[in-house]
Amino acid sequence: MGSSGEEQLSQLVSDADLLDGADTASCPAALLKEFLQDRDKHFPSNGQGPFFYIGGSNGASIISAYCRSKGWQRTQDSRREDYKLKWCEIKCRDNYHSFREGQQLLFQLPNNKLLTTKIGLLSALREHERTVSKVNRMPPGTQPRVLKMEDFFPETYRLDVSNERQAFFTLFDETQMWICKPTASNQGKGIFLIRSQEELATLQAKIQSMDDGPLHCKIPFRGPQARVVQRYIQNPLLLNGKKFDVRSYLLIACAVPYMVFFGHGYARLTLNLYDPHSSDLSGHLTNQFMQKQSPLYMLLKEDTVWSMDHLNRYINDKFQRTKGLPQDWVFTTFTKRMQQIMSHCFLAVKSKLECKLGYFDLIGCDFLIDENFKVWLLEMNSNPALHTNCEVLKKVIPGVVMETLDLALETSQKSLRGQKMLPLRAQRRFALLHNGEADPRPLLRPRLGATGARPRPLAPLPHACPRPRPPGPAPNTGPAPGEPCAERRGTGHRGS
Ligand SMILES: Nc1ncnc2c1ncn2[C@@H]1O[C@H](COP(=O)(O)OP(=O)(O)O)[C@@H](O)[C@H]1O
Ligand SMILES: [Mg+2]
Repeated sequence: MGSSGEEQLSQLVSDADLLDGADTASCPAALLKEFLQDRDKHFPSNGQGPFFYIGGSNGASIISAYCRSKGWQRTQDSRREDYKLKWCEIKCRDNYHSFREGQQLLFQLPNNKLLTTKIGLLSALREHERTVSKVNRMPPGTQPRVLKMEDFFPETYRLDVSNERQAFFTLFDETQMWICKPTASNQGKGIFLIRSQEELATLQAKIQSMDDGPLHCKIPFRGPQARVVQRYIQNPLLLNGKKFDVRSYLLIACAVPYMVFFGHGYARLTLNLYDPHSSDLSGHLTNQFMQKQSPLYMLLKEDTVWSMDHLNRYINDKFQRTKGLPQDWVFTTFTKRMQQIMSHCFLAVKSKLECKLGYFDLIGCDFLIDENFKVWLLEMNSNPALHTNCEVLKKVIPGVVMETLDLALETSQKSLRGQKMLPLRAQRRFALLHNGEADPRPLLRPRLGATGARPRPLAPLPHACPRPRPPGPAPNTGPAPGEPCAERRGTGHRGS
């Protein structure tokens, strides 16, 4: 897309974003009408497809504007199987069952929870560490240089595993703070701090009452006790006295072969000054959702999101000299560190992710910097927030979404045609973390046969009515057995 096209699209998107999610109620009718007229003027529809489907409102106007700029048409029929692109907030098993590899693009890898739930990520990192420590018994000089978990991931225990729970109860003392988080929630929901024996006793009583409760509560990963406790980083770096974290992106633009990228996002600040002893969670949790609960949010919301440039300038001004940091620490050391950590996490799950040509994923990664400039990974999120309710987000988010789609399209086309991936025309802000062209191909890949060869282009899509799914349960290509069809990380979840 040329720059003027992109500008036009960005403008359209920023208007259209008023239609997204929570902001819909405040959208004046005139603007809505204007947007719809404008959209049809720029992207007239002919009823012929190709079709795209968007499930949910997160980023919908940006995705929609992008697809319309390609001449595609939006369908509201979630069961339609002849789509070109499907982007859903909530994963649904049927989407993976009917997916036509090599012909379609489908947002979210079916088992991305290996990275995007707290227990999933913790387990993957631990297992990777065990594997790597075996490799490290190799002769010196032949060992690969790898990160240690303790160097970037705060000490964490699972509360749904009894010996881990006991280990935590035994080590706890009041000199340290801990944070307790549900495995598969987001936006700071269900999080609390543990600072005293009294708070620990309350947690123990809660767990005990669940243990005595109905059987369904006891299934690991699913029950309400599927939580982790994590050492609380008590000395975060502060911006004008406020706590912040950084949202960055891990993009899996292509799954066969893997083409994985890093993308910058933005910094999220609390409204209140940081006080480690305060019991008000809004000063501890930097999620926008938490900040929105404040009556001051509407007045001060622009202060709660900083661009990476702003963060870089601030750190240059305040800390470069006093802390002996290199110039532009944010874009040099910090960026490299985030990339290293993301690559490490990706490698931890690389062989376990379910991959088909056409699956792609955008994962939001939350990083905390402490006052010693140590970088901590807090978590990774599926379906990251793509709303643009602040000026900085209006500048950052459309670019992230458009480049995600551009890269997903270009890499899938190149894979299908057996072309070399690099250089990538679509690559602008994202940095390549992993080029899987040289990776060994998986031996058994459904639909591709046992050779693992690239799929041959399939016949062009007929723009026909959707085929009804045969009766009976769909094969288990999506969530794990026993899971509901849709993986719910809260409806309308934005991972922010
Ligand atoms: N170990 C920690 N130390 C300090 N602050 C933390 C820690 N873990 C989380 N936080 C704060 O809590 C917020 C929410 O935690 P997070 O793990 O991202 O869960 P959620 O999925 O609810 O967003 C983070 O954005 C950060 O501000
Ligand atoms: Mg988070």
